[in-house]
Amino acid sequence: MQIYIDSADQTEIEKWSAQGIIDGATTNPSILFKDGVFDLKDGARRLARLLGDRPLSVEVTSDDPAAMLSQGREIARCAPNIVVKIPVTNARGESCLGVIHALSKDAIAVNTTAILSFNQALLAAKAGAAYISIFAGRIADEGNDPCVVIRNTRAWLDDWKYTAKIIVGSIRTVMDIQNATLAGAHIITIPPQFLPKMVDHKYTRETVLQFNRDAERALEQMSEARAASASGSTK
Ligand code: E4P
Repeated sequence: MQIYIDSADQTEIEKWSAQGIIDGATTNPSILFKDGVFDLKDGARRLARLLGDRPLSVEVTSDDPAAMLSQGREIARCAPNIVVKIPVTNARGESCLGVIHALSKDAIAVNTTAILSFNQALLAAKAGAAYISIFAGRIADEGNDPCVVIRNTRAWLDDWKYTAKIIVGSIRTVMDIQNATLAGAHIITIPPQFLPKMVDHKYTRETVLQFNRDAERALEQMSEARAASASGSTK
């Protein structure tokens, strides 16, 4: 399973990449705005360079399917590791599957985003999406269980031998990460604030503290024993 960072914050991307756990990154217009990236193409180029050969998802900002298609092509030209994010529908509920299909036929990797149901996931895969972004938090916001959507989508993709990968996003708690992993996500995209919570544990700290203290006591014992044998040999 892979971990992506759901962020456009250069410091966080560098920090967690250095820990060896980041396989790619995802953004959306809200994340770019929050992280101070206002120029889409300039930001896309900079973040893509930072990631090297790891994929970076960048979303179109137009709501019109025809404009999405040309913007998607432009975004893809910014760097070879860019994956173009297209919502499954626009804000008016019109299908964007045709845009996904056309970009995929151009050999542009598409991440279909804002997926909230199994049927949307199925259609995105059929249209040619390379990635299917299931929004766990937003599914749960409406009182539904995101694990059911993730599990059913994974089973269907495997049964029908689709190569599309499930990215689970919209993470609200550390428990969402664990649940999505066990439900069959190929990739979880994690906002950086959850990574320290995943790695840290109060009892790990206490355990390491105990080991450090005992290692210090062992050193003290050794230097006392050396001092005693040195003073014995001079008598
Ligand atoms: C992932 O690709 C999405 O951009 C992101 O996780 C959406 O999360 P949100 O529901 O917190 O906006």
